[in-house]
Formats: sequence, structure tokens, C-alpha cells
Amino acid sequence: MVNNVVSVLVLNGPNLNLLGERDPGHYGTAKLEDINRDLEKLASRIGVEVICRQSNHEGVLIDLIHEHRKTCGGIIINPGALTHYSYALHDAIEAVKLPVVEVHLSDIHSREEWRRKSVITPVAWKVISGKGPAGYLEALEQLALYLEESG
Ligand code: DQA
Repeated sequence: MVNNVVSVLVLNGPNLNLLGERDPGHYGTAKLEDINRDLEKLASRIGVEVICRQSNHEGVLIDLIHEHRKTCGGIIINPGALTHYSYALHDAIEAVKLPVVEVHLSDIHSREEWRRKSVITPVAWKVISGKGPAGYLEALEQLALYLEESG
């Protein structure tokens, strides 16, 4: 929190830097910059700050969670394929005890068998899957409301 403005860390994992060109049938045509820009616009409208980061590396995502654990009020994360096997990311989220919204552009429950299991969900406050870029905006609205109410 800086000057009483709540910060929300928005993390995107492996391959999400390629949004727009990567498998548009599943992930749509919006680029990550478009999603982040819309999040920034919504954030300024509702009076919160978003810090948007993407990495293709599990350890970098974990370092970012650690680094921001005392200064942000909550986290929105699309862990990409790490969703399905990263116990290290699960443990990092569990350790920092922040409300975390897990977001997926596609509906992971209606895709290949291996995508249907998320090891992140047990430590997520909420999961939003299959709503495309709108899922990130919904996550921010819900998190901001929760943070305001829990003040
Ligand atoms: C994803 C779904 C994952 O299975 C996949 O590996 C991704 C993106 C989604 O946003 O739908 O990279 O998290």
C-alpha cells in the first residue's frame, strides 16, 4: 500500500507474453499489453493500483510474490501451464497468506485431461476460468471489493 492506495499484483506465467498470436482459438486475439492496459484503466477508476508482471520462469514468479508480499493487498495470477504442476508456486501462494485470484482465459475444465487439474486452486481465494480477458477485470473488481470490505 502506497499513500493508502491498495496495490494488486497481477502475474502472468509462461507463454502469456505471446497472447494475440498464440492459439487464438483458445486464448483470443487480445495481447497481454491490451489486458494490462484495461486493468490499469479499471484500477484507476476504482481507486487501486495494479502492478503487472509476466515471466516465463517459475522462480521469477515466486520471487515477485515474495517481493510484493508486504506491499500488496492481493494477487491476480494466471500461472499458465505451471497451474497444473507447480507445487513451488502453490507453496509460495500459501506462504504469503494473501487473497489470490487464479485466472484462466480458457475454460481449463473443458480441455485436455491434464489441464483439468490445478494445483493452485486449493490455495486460491477464487478461480475465474473461461471468461477470456474479462476474467482479469472481474478478478480485480472482486479483489478490490474484498480488500475494501476487509479494510
Ligand atoms: C491458461 C491455461 C493453461 O492450461 C495454459 O497452459 C496456459 C494458459 C489459460 O489462461 O487458459 O498457458 O492458464
